[in-house]
Amino acid sequence: MISLIVQNAMNEQIKNELFSAYLYLSMAAFFEEKNLPGFAHWMRVQAQEEQEHALKFFDFIHDRGGKITLLPIEQPKAEWKSALDAFNDAYEHEQLVTGMINKIYETALEQKDYPSQIMLQWFIDEQVEEEKNASDIVEQLKRIEERGTAILMLDHELGKRSEG
Ligand code: FEO
Repeated sequence: MISLIVQNAMNEQIKNELFSAYLYLSMAAFFEEKNLPGFAHWMRVQAQEEQEHALKFFDFIHDRGGKITLLPIEQPKAEWKSALDAFNDAYEHEQLVTGMINKIYETALEQKDYPSQIMLQWFIDEQVEEEKNASDIVEQLKRIEERGTAILMLDHELGKRSEG
């Protein structure tokens, strides 16, 4: 049986992962409006990944005999100054999520909840990748400084991101 305190933290994280999906879907809409379909595609794939993250917590709570509670999801931001501004936000958001995951892991350690610690190690690894993905694009966008053809080339590149 999962400890109540870990269960509550994971329920909170289901909401946080779904908020992440919402935020990236909002960024996808922003990029669609800006006629950057590759960026929009990248964000849509990211939103799908976040839903999968939420479901990992959902399944884990359920598998361990816990109770799932779905909490309200807030409205995400919808406007950014530029592609760089949006990806900067995505990078900052991922750093925030890393902090959340680390906090749940610390709770699982305090509670001596060993299965949760093992499950959370997947998320700890995943966050390294999540931060890197966003920060690599931030760096590319800084170099481009959003001038004409270069941003279209990056748009083409991001449009190739495979799902899952
Ligand atoms: Fe679910 Fe982007 O971390």
